[in-house]
Amino acid sequence: MGRVISTSSMMRKVKIAPSILAANFARLGDELHAMTEAGADYIHIDVMDGHFVPNLTIGANVVKALRASSPLPFDVHLMISPVDPFVEGFVKAGADIITVHPEAGPHLDRTLQLIRGSTSKRGAPVKAGVALNPATPIALIEEVLEYVDLVLVMSVNPGFGGQEFISSQLKKIEALRKAIDRAGLKAELEVDGGINDETAPRVVAAGADVLVAGTASFKGGPDSYAANIRRLKGGA
Ligand code: DX5
Ligand code: ZN
Repeated sequence: MGRVISTSSMMRKVKIAPSILAANFARLGDELHAMTEAGADYIHIDVMDGHFVPNLTIGANVVKALRASSPLPFDVHLMISPVDPFVEGFVKAGADIITVHPEAGPHLDRTLQLIRGSTSKRGAPVKAGVALNPATPIALIEEVLEYVDLVLVMSVNPGFGGQEFISSQLKKIEALRKAIDRAGLKAELEVDGGINDETAPRVVAAGADVLVAGTASFKGGPDSYAANIRRLKGGA
């Protein structure tokens, strides 16, 4: 009998979600188009409010303006508090996945139900994601794990691109992989922060399905995007 390798990282097809935080903001539409052509799987959009995290980025109007520039799922990472009053705006703007932090509001379950109860611009249910900061334990999301569509492990403290990968998060990725597989759940396991050619294989080996990469996806400009994505996916 052959060995059954059910969760082998070699068998798992990893998705890449370039974070537009590292794109050229003067040409965002062109950047999305180029990344789509280059083989990205999702477009990761980091929304920061200068309050929940110490940086300000973009709001729903920019997401709406970008919707026509790529058919890829918009993976909207909300680093804002409060979050509930803004969910509808991002849904209307074209979000396909909305990820929130449990610390961003008092009622995580309510926020997740609000997201899952929304219909995207394409007419599908919006997917709900939950993000864990480096110091946030898995226990905080245990009770909602069975109905989230995505779990995002932050491998940097949220707020800025270009930070160094925090290796202690590998253990958390491994533990979440086991928890998701053991319960037969469908949630995707996404990792965000400090992903590059050296850290990507380590997080994939730990069990990640989706890699967010800002700096590593956009480095070198549009002519390099396809090669950047290929390398992050584990190709030469
Ligand atoms: C950090 C953001 C990340 C960031 C990743 O708060 O959530 O998505 O843009 O940037 P890199 O890949 O450069 O670490
Ligand atoms: Zn992010």
